[in-house]
Amino acid sequence: DKKIVIAIDGFSSGGKSTFARMLAARLGYIFIDTGAMYRAVTLYGIEHGAIRNGVPDRERLVGMLGEIAISFRFNPRRQASDIYVNGECVEEKIRGIEVSAAVSSVSSIPEVRRKLVALQQRMGKDKGVVMDGRDIGTVVFPDAELKLFMTADPKVRAVRRYEELRARGDDVSLEEIERNIRARDRADQEREVSPLRMAPDAVVLNNSDMTLAQQMEWIEPILEEKI
Ligand code: C5P
Repeated sequence: DKKIVIAIDGFSSGGKSTFARMLAARLGYIFIDTGAMYRAVTLYGIEHGAIRNGVPDRERLVGMLGEIAISFRFNPRRQASDIYVNGECVEEKIRGIEVSAAVSSVSSIPEVRRKLVALQQRMGKDKGVVMDGRDIGTVVFPDAELKLFMTADPKVRAVRRYEELRARGDDVSLEEIERNIRARDRADQEREVSPLRMAPDAVVLNNSDMTLAQQMEWIEPILEEKI
């Protein structure tokens, strides 16, 4: 088998990470959640006073970028990698609503993107990776051998996120989540730097009515052709 890069892009809470993790496990590839990287920078900004009430002070945040060392470490308990900032595991903290509310603004800052895209390209240079995000097939790895674009109905996505957050004990309403998802869809598509776009050579997967098992079945013939 040859090793390839699999780029998965799509909207928020579209089931990208779950599918990407499963796919990586199936192939023995490394899974890289690039959204977690934008979230980690956002968390750092919040904790160090560069983001207040969800609004980044751009200059301050950009000035801090050199202090933020991001890494991933495999967590056997979850069978997935946890993200670390300067040696601290922030996997839990980055999923909260406070980070979610500010991450779109942070990800629209060109200096932030430049730093994280460079890191992502280094992490994928030996191939054998499944990377999920918004600009993986268009900007990070435009030559990826396999590009998927995942979509699902916004209502379906809101319910998924709601159940996820409720399960960890967050007190959130479905309305609040749906509003956040729609706002992020819009922000991700409308921003000037690396907007969320489907690569012309991407394969579309709409998983609104598909289980994870059905999605894995769907991808199998595509993998056989590519690998
Ligand atoms: O995937 P997730 O929802 O965790 O991503 C959080 C945010 O990070 C997105 O809403 C988007 O603004 C940003 N992002 C991005 N480019 C990526 C991955 C995520 O701009 N490659």
